[in-house]
Amino acid sequence: MNRRHFIAAGSSALAFASSMRAEEPRELHFPKGFLWGAGTSAMQIEGAWKEDGKGESIWDHFAHQRAHIKGEYNLDVACDSYHRYKEDIDCLKRMHQGSYRFSIAWPRIQPTGSGKPNAKGLDYYSRLVDAMLAANIRPNCTLYHWDLPQVLEEKGGWPSRDTAYRFAEYAAIMTKALGDRVKVWAMLNEPLTFTQAGYFGGTMAPGVADPDLAMRASHVSNLAQGLAFRAMKAIDPKAEVGGAFNISAVTPVTDSEADVAEAERVLASRNLWYIHPAMTGHYPEAAYPKGIPYEQMGYQSGDDKLMLCPLDWIGVNYYRRTLISAKGRVAPGQAVDGGGVASNAEVAQKGVLTDFGWEVWAPGLYRVLRRVAKEYGNPVIEITENGCSYLDAPDAQLRVADDRRISFYREHLAQVHRAIADGVRVRGYHAWSLLDNFELAEGYTQRFGLVYVDFRDQRRILKDSAKWYGEVARTNTLRIA
Ligand code: FCB
Repeated sequence: MNRRHFIAAGSSALAFASSMRAEEPRELHFPKGFLWGAGTSAMQIEGAWKEDGKGESIWDHFAHQRAHIKGEYNLDVACDSYHRYKEDIDCLKRMHQGSYRFSIAWPRIQPTGSGKPNAKGLDYYSRLVDAMLAANIRPNCTLYHWDLPQVLEEKGGWPSRDTAYRFAEYAAIMTKALGDRVKVWAMLNEPLTFTQAGYFGGTMAPGVADPDLAMRASHVSNLAQGLAFRAMKAIDPKAEVGGAFNISAVTPVTDSEADVAEAERVLASRNLWYIHPAMTGHYPEAAYPKGIPYEQMGYQSGDDKLMLCPLDWIGVNYYRRTLISAKGRVAPGQAVDGGGVASNAEVAQKGVLTDFGWEVWAPGLYRVLRRVAKEYGNPVIEITENGCSYLDAPDAQLRVADDRRISFYREHLAQVHRAIADGVRVRGYHAWSLLDNFELAEGYTQRFGLVYVDFRDQRRILKDSAKWYGEVARTNTLRIA
């Protein structure tokens, strides 16, 4: 190339080089042994709601009373995973997954909530775990993902202290049955959701709306964690016992003292309310500046000792952020539209919405991870849930091109990587969810799966996101375009 030519071509060559740089993928490598996984829960996928001796759960009961669930759907069949679990494990294998977060349906084990276990129920989970291990997938087992035996609800449910003892008995049964193969356990999934949506808002099973009962339920769930923790450790001291907690990125809209204090109150009374008692034996004081309502909660002396159970690992379920001002909740974007209360650029922005209408806000995941690390002495963390609902469906070639889900995961995984680089001990990540499934009060009208489920014939189809995520897992590397 002569000099003239070179100069002439110079500017476009430079432009080309810089566009190459821009398109060149940046590679984020995850630590060796990082666990890539996906999650489901029993009641959202299993179906077989009264098979092999299974008892009725509060969700079976709730869904069978018409009109509680959009479309009047129920969980009778769901994804039929009770019969198709091998297909599900096969999907995980095709996606190079190293961990499966699944849950046990308590009413399959104790149909009436107490006493001798149902052998057929135990056998099902034993086969499920064996199938995982044969596929080289580590089981991460949740004991309670909201399907309380209906009989226990009729005896008082989570507001009744007895339920904590029943839960510990059931946790011991499962540790005995699976503890030789399952080493990582989450006791409760999102106690905030099942106690508050279940007993305060009434939008979830059992559909009760009573502030006093909700306060009691929250305390009993904290007692249940402590009691179950010790029962499990007595059987298997090596069991790694933790929990899965929904933690929103609670962000004050300005740095004024009043806004910051209110955001701290919200975080403490909602999200940390179920972790703090386990880790410290106490409720977080920021939750109730005028004093914790012990009486309303049914707190008894000595409960601090019952609740205390320093968790071996903390599971984080992250979906979105919550913007808070001293006057209450602020919708994303409202901070700007409503007259500029925002004090920083992040608060003023509004993320895109998923098909469920949830704002996508990936930096919130980083903040949550940093906060948990700071609050509890840098514990081992696994992300137990993170995901999005988009309604993309198969085309004529049975391809599900769900690019928006890929973007969601790419953004969030970059934030996980950032937290790890800062020293937060995140050792695994579970996408929610492996399968499109029964999305609670939304029935089958929201799709969180990496794998598409055709509910007419139960066919499973790996979406583009599943293939993309499978490559991330296989290479242990995230490529940022
Ligand atoms: C969480 C639940 C999970 C799922 C997602 C979308 O709150 O733990 O079961 O439904 O939300």
